[in-house]
Amino acid sequence: MKKNTLKNILITGGAGFIGSHVVRQFVNKYSNYRVLNLDALTYAGNLENLKEIEQAPNYSFVKGDIADADFVNDLFSQNHFDGVIHLAAESHVDRSITDPVSFVRTNVLGTVNLLNASLQVAKDNPDFLFYHISTDEVYGSLGKEGLFTEKTAYDPNSPYSASKASSDHFVRAYGETYGLPYVISNCSNNYGPNQFPEKLIPLFINNIIQNKALPVYGDGNYTRDWLFVKDHAEAIDLIFHKGKKGETYNVGGFNEWKNIDLTKLLCRLMDKKLNRQEGASEKLITFVKDRPGHDLRYAIDATKINQELGWKPSVTFEEGLENTIDWYFENQEWLDHVTSGDYLEYYKKQYQA
Ligand code: NAD
Ligand code: TYD
Repeated sequence: MKKNTLKNILITGGAGFIGSHVVRQFVNKYSNYRVLNLDALTYAGNLENLKEIEQAPNYSFVKGDIADADFVNDLFSQNHFDGVIHLAAESHVDRSITDPVSFVRTNVLGTVNLLNASLQVAKDNPDFLFYHISTDEVYGSLGKEGLFTEKTAYDPNSPYSASKASSDHFVRAYGETYGLPYVISNCSNNYGPNQFPEKLIPLFINNIIQNKALPVYGDGNYTRDWLFVKDHAEAIDLIFHKGKKGETYNVGGFNEWKNIDLTKLLCRLMDKKLNRQEGASEKLITFVKDRPGHDLRYAIDATKINQELGWKPSVTFEEGLENTIDWYFENQEWLDHVTSGDYLEYYKKQYQA
């Protein structure tokens, strides 16, 4: 895509965790783009994440549900989008176990609605691109060895990853069948500012601040590859502008951690910042009932995006974690808002606490 021509970009899910970083990156960096953020503002969507750019002349927001085909079609007929960056999704594995249908609705039906609407626009616009953001969880679980590459067969285990795998397949199918120009990326676990405190890192930061138990599932030996969200946003920017149409890119942090080791690192960093005695927060670690169908290990081989697009993570895990912890300290009000009301109900149900 040429940088100097006016581009109308639709970003879906831009009020969520990763989406808000992508929206900010695009609005701040590309003053010649018009960025429209479409988000349903579910429990995970929060306009407070976008305060910094909400007045920017090249930014606007529309509240709406991607699973509503009429709404999506109207939006596309009123705007001539040059590109869609699709992040809207139900994103939490534990919630997918208790309510799989809402994952099918948003992640599968919502994606297909966007694809159908995109087909109409792409007919008249040879530069149009549909960029679908996905997860490494579609590849299933690794054993102790090996890495996911772009050629790894899909083998999803959770309702979340099954819905994301399905949406990835639909994107590819629309490329093959109808010639829709697309690109897909599959990323490992993100962490950083603005993440809703249901995922491991922000949940545990919040619990440590409050001196609450840290519920580690099973024996804690499950392994994830962690990537700082701003590095993911950079990768998304690069892939959107320079990625090859019809290709997939794996994005990862080269940064594998067992949950228990990560939890202990977090405890150490937070004890220092909170002036607590060494070992104080580790006492909060509580092993709890395992997640059903828990994937043992995810790890990404990010060679392709590194070699073809020159991307690599910019911060170390310690730097990223420190930055993240500081953000939650400085944004206690944000944390208070999102952990009241429905969150308390969710927490009680999920952790019997
Ligand atoms: P999130 O849950 O923080 O945000 C999702 C956003 O989508 C929210 O703002 C929500 O309001 C919006 N949304 C949900 N349903 C919608 C609907 N029906 N219509 C319109 N908007 C709707 O998620 P996230 O962690 O920011 O993830 C963003 C994307 O990146 C997802 O597609 C996810 O699968 C993918 N991803 C996430 C991670 C991760 O570690 N968080 C890793 C790899 C890929
Ligand atoms: P999570 O942040 O939910 O991401 P994902 O399931 O998409 O990888 O979980 C990361 C890891 O942490 C995963 O192995 C499950 C584990 N976990 C816990 O041990 N306790 C918790 O309370 C949560 C939310 C996750």
